[in-house]
Amino acid sequence: MSHVLAAVAWPYANGPRHIGHVSGFGVPSDVFSRFMRMSGHDVLMVSGTDEHGTPIQVQADADGVTPRELADRYNRVIVEDLHGLGLSYDLFTRTTTRNHYAVVQELFTGLHENGYIVAKTTLGAISPSTGRTLPDRYIEGTCPICRYESARGDQCDNCGNQLDPEQLIDPKSRINGETPEFVETEHFFLDLPAFAQALGKWLDTREGWRPNVLKFSRNLLDDLQPRAITRDLEWGVPIPLDAWRDRADKRIYVWFDAVIGYLSASIEWARRSGDPEAWRKWWSPGAGGDSRGYYFMGKDNIVFHSVIWPSLLLGYSGEGDKGGKPGSLGALNLPTEVVSSEYLTMEGRKFSSSRKVVIYVRDFLERYDADALRYFIAAAGPESNDTDFTWSEFVRRNNDELVAGWGNLVNRSISMAAKNFGAVPEAGELTADDRALLEVARSAFATVGDLIGKHRQKAAIGEAMRVVAEANKYLSEQAPWKLKDEASKPRMGTILHVALQVVRDANTLLTPFLPHSAQKVHELLGGTGVHAPMPSIVEVDDVDGGPGYPVLTGDYTGGARWESVPLVAGTPLAAPKPVFRKLDPSVVEEELERLGS
Ligand code: MF3
Ligand code: ZN
Repeated sequence: MSHVLAAVAWPYANGPRHIGHVSGFGVPSDVFSRFMRMSGHDVLMVSGTDEHGTPIQVQADADGVTPRELADRYNRVIVEDLHGLGLSYDLFTRTTTRNHYAVVQELFTGLHENGYIVAKTTLGAISPSTGRTLPDRYIEGTCPICRYESARGDQCDNCGNQLDPEQLIDPKSRINGETPEFVETEHFFLDLPAFAQALGKWLDTREGWRPNVLKFSRNLLDDLQPRAITRDLEWGVPIPLDAWRDRADKRIYVWFDAVIGYLSASIEWARRSGDPEAWRKWWSPGAGGDSRGYYFMGKDNIVFHSVIWPSLLLGYSGEGDKGGKPGSLGALNLPTEVVSSEYLTMEGRKFSSSRKVVIYVRDFLERYDADALRYFIAAAGPESNDTDFTWSEFVRRNNDELVAGWGNLVNRSISMAAKNFGAVPEAGELTADDRALLEVARSAFATVGDLIGKHRQKAAIGEAMRVVAEANKYLSEQAPWKLKDEASKPRMGTILHVALQVVRDANTLLTPFLPHSAQKVHELLGGTGVHAPMPSIVEVDDVDGGPGYPVLTGDYTGGARWESVPLVAGTPLAAPKPVFRKLDPSVVEEELERLGS
């Protein structure tokens, strides 16, 4: 047993999440965490809503509410979305807790004391009408290099060059079209070049990363520049230094604060658990034995997890070029693996809320089951290539694979046994075919488990479904329904016993992917108690006296183990209710109409 941290990207609380978001960070991290728990590891799965920065401020302005109101609204919506999908967070919190502010400020202070944070004067753009700073990416103008007319203040999408906003020809605010003013402003910078060597050493020892992610991360080390980690903004974590603490116009950069959420959420979880030091088993070198940390996200987040976050951890631990000593939390573990997915598109187009090329999780779950979506994401999601979601493929996979494959196996084996025996029948002597099928199922635990451990969930669910296909083939070949006379009935019992055992094994193999239906199948087989634990939404008080909020949490200790468990003959069986819903092909047209395409 070891300690496994599942660190899941924090969704911005600026709108509801769509299925593209949850296919990148949500379902893969949950499949992994469930599997690791079933294998006996001590998993801590944490995340929360990311509630600071320009993404929140800009949306709040557009909606005519305060950033706090916006964050409150979407924190709740997102908690409900993730709950609906059955994502088994130990703690899904938010970045506006007092605990988070304190941990962010502690890391800032520690990095500053070790000399890795330095102040610099730069030019910043402000909007003349609001007096508010305009972030680089909200300024647009003509590229001074290639003359592309819609270059952004941080880079030109046409020629790919990095830009500073004051270099743009005829700069305009993307928010209201006005011409920004440039003024001198002081900011703090993280000395990234001081970590180049340590980051390189760390990356050189990484094993099993997706090749693209590792290559991309290595390339980033070639050109590390100091990076601004404060902003001219009123919304965010205050800068914890004298003369800065009380300034209403300067805040810590949202990405600096968000990545620290993995640590602050772990600390919050420990404080709520009654053992405030418990987080150390996942974070302090040596404290948790062989402790590992896996970070789940979409590919636009890689740089923050493979460069920025490790740099913060190194600097706080006193392990960059400038040395230093660990802050009061002690030295901290670097990530074991950055698990990044690619993008999901929708009917061939980029997801876009404004162009309505989107399906929100909430709307999806109103019309379809969570496991149908989880199945699609696991079997056909953007694991290591950009992938397209189409309604016709969703319906096809649901009907042909989930319903006609797995659902049918569950249904026919249990109903035949219930009808003819009223219970799990005794197995008589086993034939070579019986043994072969049992062995296919038993050996799949190693194969499927190994693939999930390597973040190859597509292949893993494919192997689990291969067991299902073999069992369906076995039933067709053995045709137990023909063995109804008294003399053949014992053989019918044996066949059904074997089939039900394989249903039980396949159900365990599919549990990380399809937890809702796995619980149902467990019960249909006469099982009691919790097979696949589910998260709950709990309204909590802030541990440090701030306003309360909803969290996602749960007790995941009691579920099934990753192993074949023998069925007990004589366990009563009732006629099963269908576990999966067949979808009418008309769904495709209806949904395409909703999309407006
Ligand atoms: N909010 C970011 C996004 O949606 C992800 C933040 S991940 C964290 O792209 F590590 F910073 F928390
Ligand atoms: Zn250009």
